[in-house]
Amino acid sequence: MRNKILITGGAGFIGSHVVRLFVNKYPEYEIVNLDKLTYAGNLENISDIDKAPNYSFVKGDISDEQFIDDLFAKNDFKGVIHLAAESHVDRSITDPMAFIKANVFGTVNLLNAAKKYWKDDFEGRRFYHISTDEVYGALGETGFFYEDTSYDPKSPYSASKASSDHFVRAYMNTYKLPIVISNCSNNYGPNQFPEKLLPLAINNIKNNKPIPIYGKGENIRDWLYVVDHARAIDLIYHKAEIGKTYNIGGHNEWTNIDLIRLLCKVMDKKLGRAEGESAKLISYVTDRAGHDLRYAIDASLIEKKLGWVPSLQFEEGLEKTIDWYLDNQKWMDRIVSGAYEDYYKNMYKDN
Ligand code: NAD
Ligand code: DAU
Repeated sequence: MRNKILITGGAGFIGSHVVRLFVNKYPEYEIVNLDKLTYAGNLENISDIDKAPNYSFVKGDISDEQFIDDLFAKNDFKGVIHLAAESHVDRSITDPMAFIKANVFGTVNLLNAAKKYWKDDFEGRRFYHISTDEVYGALGETGFFYEDTSYDPKSPYSASKASSDHFVRAYMNTYKLPIVISNCSNNYGPNQFPEKLLPLAINNIKNNKPIPIYGKGENIRDWLYVVDHARAIDLIYHKAEIGKTYNIGGHNEWTNIDLIRLLCKVMDKKLGRAEGESAKLISYVTDRAGHDLRYAIDASLIEKKLGWVPSLQFEEGLEKTIDWYLDNQKWMDRIVSGAYEDYYKNMYKDN
């Protein structure tokens, strides 16, 4: 039997990088990419590998019980790498129920199918759940999130992810389902939907539109290049002990305002603008409700146990990212027309 792996959410930002890495690195595996193709899912993100003989795509909703049951009945998956989720904090503030459906109900559906079809044959299988550092809540000016930091989610998004993490662990404790979890910090890189800070700012700078900074721009995030997250997922999937949790992060904290100032400086150079030109677009807007002050991951466990370290310095990753968006204007243009325009107008309407 070929080693068949189900990757959920593989048409999204991080999922597309994980699918690409697995399809290219493991020709002996069969990679099945399941994605609902919500507003955030985009098959263009993986158009370079979609003809590969070890790859197939299935369109479907992880929260559809019958569909998931049928999929597991038809396929003997050796493993599941579960990334599909509603992922944007601001959307979770507007519509929490969508997050409960996809992130909680959808995850439990997948767990139920794995439990039912893997039954007494858990040997060599694993259910790998991809989660976020936001489940730990918010830090003050000092300290880090560790694997054993208590959960304290503060947004509907992080509450839904925390809930899904709890269900995953409960299925191991109760049914012995072989699970692994990782919690990662903010990712950046190619193919990120421009509702998130960096691609939104890159697109606005390019088009001379205001760059919306929530509150005073003092919130801190720990940024990691998406390909390094995909590398960590590969290592954890293959090497982690069953039942373990790993934190993944870039040791790379930036206040939002410093990050955007750096971005503006690099964009000035790339666009042939005078230094300081793009920074004039910075516009302070109404803060996000319940905005978490700071996230910072202690990634020493994955470093020590699995030998993972980020491969890129931030400045290098940021340049690569900007170059990708500038070189892929058509990708951006297709996204920012239609539904995105309505989202943007509504989201930033008070400013
Ligand atoms: P994304 O929004 O770019 O992609 C999510 C993908 O999931 C999309 O392709 C979407 O179509 C699909 N999807 C959503 N609901 C679905 C459903 N009900 N059924 C099937 N498919 C569905 O998200 P992302 O930023 O790539 O995040 C992927 C995962 O990584 C999420 O679980 C997220 O919580 C986690 N994560 C993200 C970050 C980050 O910085 N982006 C950091 C840590 C963890
Ligand atoms: O930490 C991991 C999380 O990172 C993931 O779990 C989430 O899926 C992912 O979306 C991301 O969450 P954030 O809320 O940190 O990312 P976002 O890009 O939305 O915002 C980054 C910071 O920038 C945050 O402090 C809010 C701020 N921000 C964001 C937007 C969209 C602005 O100041 N202005 C904006 O317009």
